[in-house]
Amino acid sequence: MSVHPLPITPPTGGRPGLAADKPLLQAEGVTLEYRTAAHTVRATHRVSFDVHRGDRFVLLGPSGCGKSTLLKAVGGFIAPREGSIRLDGRVVAGPGPDRVVVFQEFDQLPPWKTVKENVMFPLLASKRAGRREAEARALHWLHKVGLDRFADAFPHTLSGGMKQRVAIARALAMQPEVLLMDEPFAALDALTRRKMQEELQALWEEERFTLLFVTHSIEEALVVGNRILLLSPHPGRVRAEINSHQFGLHSMGGSEFQSTARRIHGLLFDEPAQAGGAHATDAGNLSRSSRAQEA
Ligand SMILES: Nc1ncnc2c1ncn2[C@@H]1O[C@H](COP(=O)(O)OP(=O)(O)OP(=O)(O)O)[C@@H](O)[C@H]1O
Ligand SMILES: [Mg+2]
Repeated sequence: MSVHPLPITPPTGGRPGLAADKPLLQAEGVTLEYRTAAHTVRATHRVSFDVHRGDRFVLLGPSGCGKSTLLKAVGGFIAPREGSIRLDGRVVAGPGPDRVVVFQEFDQLPPWKTVKENVMFPLLASKRAGRREAEARALHWLHKVGLDRFADAFPHTLSGGMKQRVAIARALAMQPEVLLMDEPFAALDALTRRKMQEELQALWEEERFTLLFVTHSIEEALVVGNRILLLSPHPGRVRAEINSHQFGLHSMGGSEFQSTARRIHGLLFDEPAQAGGAHATDAGNLSRSSRAQEA
């Protein structure tokens, strides 16, 4: 069995001076299933991870490994079959304004509302703000994502990237405890995707929000995340957790970036299928050592 010398994330998420802080989000042994009359599909199997305040935590794994399902569970739309998800120590029992999702689809903005109205809507619906404050917050966040001039435009007049910026502004205007993003840039062309990653990074530098980000792109995971949870193919189990805070757009193409990307690829895909056993052991060791450090 090959050894993958990936840096295992220390319990503080690699941030010095925060050893004592408690995780904001804790997933403990989370098994998620879809049940129909005919059969049950297990999407994830006993997945555990901790997200600390200010983390850019990435769920990375192949298609069908349960990333979106995990995000839905954190959003409170699906209840775990086993295990628990806690936010700030409280069990997640349903959706709430403290968790807002940005999806991949461009049609997540109601088309009959202007850009500004779209951003205001969740603030008003959740009663987080009255009209005047909602409008001020909407304009503030539209400015942050560079869309001031489009406040009165309708979504169909915007490009895909601009629509995603509106969705990000709408989510951040809610000031959620955790921003959930499910492959938000996957439907964009390569250049726009790169630009959006850069803008997200810049927004995070300014605002330091907590991000839980789903992708199946290794490169995107390294660029966006400070910690990455690698999930096995269906049903998703934890293969490893790695520290990626040292990488960003600036490091793409560099040798450390590329060798880490190759190692992640190996961890995710290179083990032969028989390796259900072998790989599970390998991953188990990695995640056990990460847990052991936490103990
Ligand atoms: N509504 C559903 N009913 C039944 N099974 C589902 C449902 N949604 C997802 N699944 C199954 O659960 C598993 C995990 O799906 P999920 O969408 O979470 O994967 P994913 O990692 O997000 O994949 P992708 O990268 O393609 O988006 C898959 O086997 C999928 O077929
Ligand atoms: Mg998905």
